[in-house]
Amino acid sequence: MGKRVLVVSSANMDITLPVARFPAPGETAILGGGVSYTPGGKGANSAVAFAKLGAETVFCTRLGRDSHGETLYDYYKECGIDTRHIAIDRDRPTGCAVILVEPSGQNRILCYPGANRYISESDVDEAFLSCPDALYLQLEIGEATVLAAADYAYRHEIPIFIDAGPARADFPLESLPPVTVFSPNEVETEVYTGIHLTGSDSMLAASMELFSRVRAEYIVLKLGDRGAFVCNGRHFKFLSAFPVSAVDTTAAGDAFTAALTLRYLENGGDIVGAVRYGCAAGALTATRAGAAYAVPTAKEVAEFLEQQGESV
Ligand code: RIB
Repeated sequence: MGKRVLVVSSANMDITLPVARFPAPGETAILGGGVSYTPGGKGANSAVAFAKLGAETVFCTRLGRDSHGETLYDYYKECGIDTRHIAIDRDRPTGCAVILVEPSGQNRILCYPGANRYISESDVDEAFLSCPDALYLQLEIGEATVLAAADYAYRHEIPIFIDAGPARADFPLESLPPVTVFSPNEVETEVYTGIHLTGSDSMLAASMELFSRVRAEYIVLKLGDRGAFVCNGRHFKFLSAFPVSAVDTTAAGDAFTAALTLRYLENGGDIVGAVRYGCAAGALTATRAGAAYAVPTAKEVAEFLEQQGESV
């Protein structure tokens, strides 16, 4: 039986607009390509990644009672996600995000949280009845809900993994209970620490600054096409990225952290092996358009790692 992971996080309908370049302030740009509406949201992208990678995935989120909510709910069921802890909000719409993607694959995202902000503590308490092996969080939902979920997991000795996006300068990181992994990307790291990531000195300095605020066993910095940096407070390792041609980087980080979490749970805590696996899942996600649709399966990651001459 696979590991059971409880994801308490966001679900969005992504409205993706491919642009030749990001418009300047005051400029109106006309789209060359078409607009697409596809499943996204940091939490949902990770939940889909867990499911495709073979975890028993319980998703606790909140959708609006609208057509976007229905489409997303049906998609999660198709992916084999346990949807029993998805609440339907009568008063607020499903979250959505407008995503501009440049030909390089680089994106800019504007997110409207909608119902995501109202995932309640009782939604979360009920979701823990699923008896998960781990709790997985991101910061795209209400602060009180994140803290309540983390607190519940800590009191019940359930390991906690946190993808630290999106960046929230005012988030009280010090109030989190001890966690296994805390993983921000470059932008988030700079917001939380004030340190711009250049070489490994700055990565180490940022990790140590994060350790002074978050009681984490490991800080894992996501560095996009540079790779990842993992640190336990005494030792560190930089892992370079797999070379791929990026089409759309949306959800690459979400897939990375989910894959790293699942691998860590499965491989008895080999953090470096888990980060490598996360790098492979993130790289593959960046080679495809869209968010949740772009996330690879366990078989695809295994084949990719083999092609790269790495053991799975
Ligand atoms: O991390 C990518 C996600 O961020 C998108 O799918 C979008 O919905 C926003 O939540």
